[in-house]
Amino acid sequence: MSHVIGIDTSTTATKALVISSEGAVVAVASTEYGYEIPRPTWSEQDPALWWDATVASIRQAMTRSEMQPSAIDAIGLTGQMHGSVLLDPKGDVVRPAILWNDQRTAAECDEIRQRVGRDVLIATTGNDALTGLTSPKLLWVRNHEPENWARVTTVLLPKDYVRLGLTGDRAVDVADGSGTGLFDLSARSWSPDVLGALDLGLALFPETHEGPEITGWLSSEAAAATGLAPGTPVVAGGGDQSANAVGVGAVSPGVVALSLGTSGVVFATSDGPAIDSEARVQAFCHAVPGRWHMMGVMLSAAGSLRWFRDAVAPGSDFDDLVAGASEVPPGSEGLLFLPYLSGERTPHPDPTARGAFVGLTTSHDIRHMTRAVLEGVSFGLADGLELMIGAGVPQPGAIRASGGGIRSGLWRQILADVLNARIDTPVTEEGAAYGAALLASVGAGHYATVDEATAKAVEVLPAAEAGEHVELYHDAHRRYQRLYPALRPTFEAM
Ligand code: XUL
Repeated sequence: MSHVIGIDTSTTATKALVISSEGAVVAVASTEYGYEIPRPTWSEQDPALWWDATVASIRQAMTRSEMQPSAIDAIGLTGQMHGSVLLDPKGDVVRPAILWNDQRTAAECDEIRQRVGRDVLIATTGNDALTGLTSPKLLWVRNHEPENWARVTTVLLPKDYVRLGLTGDRAVDVADGSGTGLFDLSARSWSPDVLGALDLGLALFPETHEGPEITGWLSSEAAAATGLAPGTPVVAGGGDQSANAVGVGAVSPGVVALSLGTSGVVFATSDGPAIDSEARVQAFCHAVPGRWHMMGVMLSAAGSLRWFRDAVAPGSDFDDLVAGASEVPPGSEGLLFLPYLSGERTPHPDPTARGAFVGLTTSHDIRHMTRAVLEGVSFGLADGLELMIGAGVPQPGAIRASGGGIRSGLWRQILADVLNARIDTPVTEEGAAYGAALLASVGAGHYATVDEATAKAVEVLPAAEAGEHVELYHDAHRRYQRLYPALRPTFEAM
């Protein structure tokens, strides 16, 4: 039987997933690593970690699958988006990659708006200048480390550094490419106008491909390192959000996906480039050829719960913490939590935004605070969905949800009530790696299209229905929405 491999280069681990051409998961392996925080709100990683972890995870997954290398028809790639991998002419890394969750580039975002013009930038790229995207990171290195910048001849995204190791090719898929802030969203390729205004040469950037396209073949060196067969095709794949959407079958208009990991995302597909004129939600190319998507991104979603556990109840079990939260009523007896612990992207693109508990009284305890965290994150996701609905996305009847936070039954129910939609969960919970593997399956010819692949391979089951608390949460959400404007001057002054 034919098989493919999906590889996900995430912020915390590289996962390799072997699936059959029918979409069944055969083997999975994951190799963890850390990332550096050289200063508060900065975030960097050494690309060598990704390559070493890719080799280790492929080898382990293949051993577990008990298959011959010749059984693998193609490899699909996905990974954390927006990171800046800077290479010199020899292909050596010039400095550690600056990651998607790094917030150092507020001044460079202003520089981009000023050079390109904010309206032109949004109309061309679909997005405002955001600290999370790649473009301000390049300007930051140019402004602050000119000696490093002078050596840079290639800019890649994290998963494409892995591709370079596998095939020797410099290539990117259009979904990840559109997350650089340097793409013409409609043309699905680099924008000569934006590059020109920022004084960045086109030659710095790799060639672009649609998600299921083959970008190269496994080199003999990479075959020796990974144990796979030389000449195995490698497909373009997609940034983690679009690959995750493929993995849960959110590939056509009308199917909304939600992911509740460290960051939190609400994702809706469109047939054309749909842009919020104020760019409060992001607009990118989809990993599905000829489709685009809008996306609201919270920087600390399940990350807020982790922070809360580590700060207030270190060492305690998430299940115990959440069991406590289920003992207090919806609305947490008036307590609200703002989840902007790492600054925010949607709905407030503001690196100075901060977290807060508002409304504390002596009758609140850790259970109310936990529940307020679950509710505050859900309100933040609802903010993203509201903006997308305002931009023309129909109110979804059901939402396909995945990610670590979705394992909690209480959180699923809160989301169903806050978003006023049924929450469905995929039967196969392998996230972006599964989507990358499905894209590889299309590239290998197992399916004619991504639509066909997801229709045949992805199954979802209902996991929570909107219930009696929809109205209560609607009112609490409106109170929550008034907090950021009120606190903003204080956040700025901090
Ligand atoms: C998407 C985003 C994150 C990262 C890390 O825009 O910033 O999802 O890709 O996973």
